[in-house]
Amino acid sequence: MPYLRAFCFLSLSCFAQYSIQRTVSPINIDGKLDEPAWRDARSMGDFTFNWYQSGEKEQTVAKMLWDDENLYVSWHVRDKHISAYEKRRHGPVSKDDCVEIFVAPNPAKAGNYYTWEINAIGTMLNRNKADWYTGGATWEPDGVEYRATFHGAAKKDEAPEDDHWIVEMKVPFRNFARDAAHTPPLAGDEWRLNVNRIGGKTNAQLSSWSPIQPPLKGFHSPEAFGRVVFADPPVAGARRGGQRIRFNAADARAGHEIYNRSCTMCHGLDGAPGDRAPALGAQRRYLRATSEELFDAIKNGIRGTAMPASPLPETDVRKIVAYVHSLRATAVDLDVPGNPANGQEVFLSKAKCAQCHMLNGRGGILGPDLSNIGAERRLAAIRDALTVPKPVPPRGFQPVKVTTAAGRSFEGIVKNQHNTSFQILGLDNKLHLLAAAQIKDIQFQPKSLMPASFDKSLTSVELQDLLAYLSRQARSRR
Ligand code: HEC
Ligand code: HEC
Repeated sequence: MPYLRAFCFLSLSCFAQYSIQRTVSPINIDGKLDEPAWRDARSMGDFTFNWYQSGEKEQTVAKMLWDDENLYVSWHVRDKHISAYEKRRHGPVSKDDCVEIFVAPNPAKAGNYYTWEINAIGTMLNRNKADWYTGGATWEPDGVEYRATFHGAAKKDEAPEDDHWIVEMKVPFRNFARDAAHTPPLAGDEWRLNVNRIGGKTNAQLSSWSPIQPPLKGFHSPEAFGRVVFADPPVAGARRGGQRIRFNAADARAGHEIYNRSCTMCHGLDGAPGDRAPALGAQRRYLRATSEELFDAIKNGIRGTAMPASPLPETDVRKIVAYVHSLRATAVDLDVPGNPANGQEVFLSKAKCAQCHMLNGRGGILGPDLSNIGAERRLAAIRDALTVPKPVPPRGFQPVKVTTAAGRSFEGIVKNQHNTSFQILGLDNKLHLLAAAQIKDIQFQPKSLMPASFDKSLTSVELQDLLAYLSRQARSRR
């Protein structure tokens, strides 16, 4: 099986990918990054020095998190020469040591992006590049909180003890409502963005998370933005204590019935949100995650809220706890039967999944990266993805057939569409940039490229082994 990997270095198609984990505990914006959620969050990965000239290449560790209200971003910047002087709101901070994030909430319209640029003494510049934005050259985002290591200092000169600096920021999702499919995002929503570092007197090399390659010239290149996906529930590593959820299936079924009988005057049926109480399942941040915490909340109620103590016998409460766990469990929490090694073989050879999917850094990019699929999705959702065709191609995966004026034709997925140009990720896993004028004919295909009939093309044993393999794909804690 030839792996598709080198394409990334040969063409424009190499853009970075990251899955943003949900935080279940609060983040205090103090420029320290000492919360467990930050510690456990994955790094976005090494930055690329797009226009490297000389001097020391100093790396940046960027991380992102989200919850129902906010997007969180942090930069830990290695820097032996830290300097910053700009104090004016919206001043040219990129002359100083400065970090940036450019965010496009609609992956089909990356040209609509919003920018945050913050220097080492905490001066911020914001712009809004959306086509609907009629304000001036700068923009006032709503409710942003941030903190830089030298926040508020009159200036920062280079010093021998310089080693690193940090910026921590939170941005309320309401700022993105005009371009995002959902605010807050739903699990699986994809956005595009880039995270940058720039400036300073010494080693002023410009680097970014998603590579920016010629002919693209600067950070304002939405074409090169990477892809981020919002993950929920929190991936295995972010879960409190890093524990898998354990529960007994028979208890969970019994608990389901007791719950539907006893709790739905406030909560919704089957764990859905109710008029007077939150959902107990996966679409919401949950404050209580362990069996003890859930048991305590149900048995004793939650002080200061409408959640009452329950008169149910303790054995019933334990069954409800099992039921709540089952609502929240993703595939990795279950011991899915089957032979994972055979499943991997099916993945690589017979079913050719790796032609379109990356898994642990190998494979194509037409479909989503599956390296963490077991922690991101429930088993039923994975089985459905393999066996139940979707009524329409999901957003971000619209397949097309294109014929160019020069008579070339090819198939792929529309990654970005502007008035005058298309970016199409071809079946060859390469990104094709086409001006509208170059296109003679473009046909949007009604069906996703994902062949959702593996219940027919594989034997039932092969399908089960494949599910056993996929369900175990979860990134481990760092
Ligand atoms: C009178 C309304 C009411 C009833 C009845 C009720 N709840 Fe609740 N429940 C609430 C409210 C309100 C909250 C949110 C409390 C908060 O803000 O932390 C809650 C929270 C919870 C939580 C915590 C969720 C989390 O993520 O922290 C659990 C678990 C829970 N309820 C389970 C149950 C179960 C099981 C029953 C039935 C035995 C039940 N509740 C009956 C109102 C109710
Ligand atoms: C021809 C390309 C192609 C092949 C081959 C392919 N897929 Fe996909 N797959 C996609 C695309 C594109 C999507 C996203 C659109 C969609 O969900 O329909 C996708 C979606 C998925 C999803 C849903 C991911 C999520 O985050 O919900 C899973 C799971 C998946 N594929 C697994 C597989 C497996 C396992 C195989 C092999 C048995 C496979 N795919 C073969 C293109 C492909």
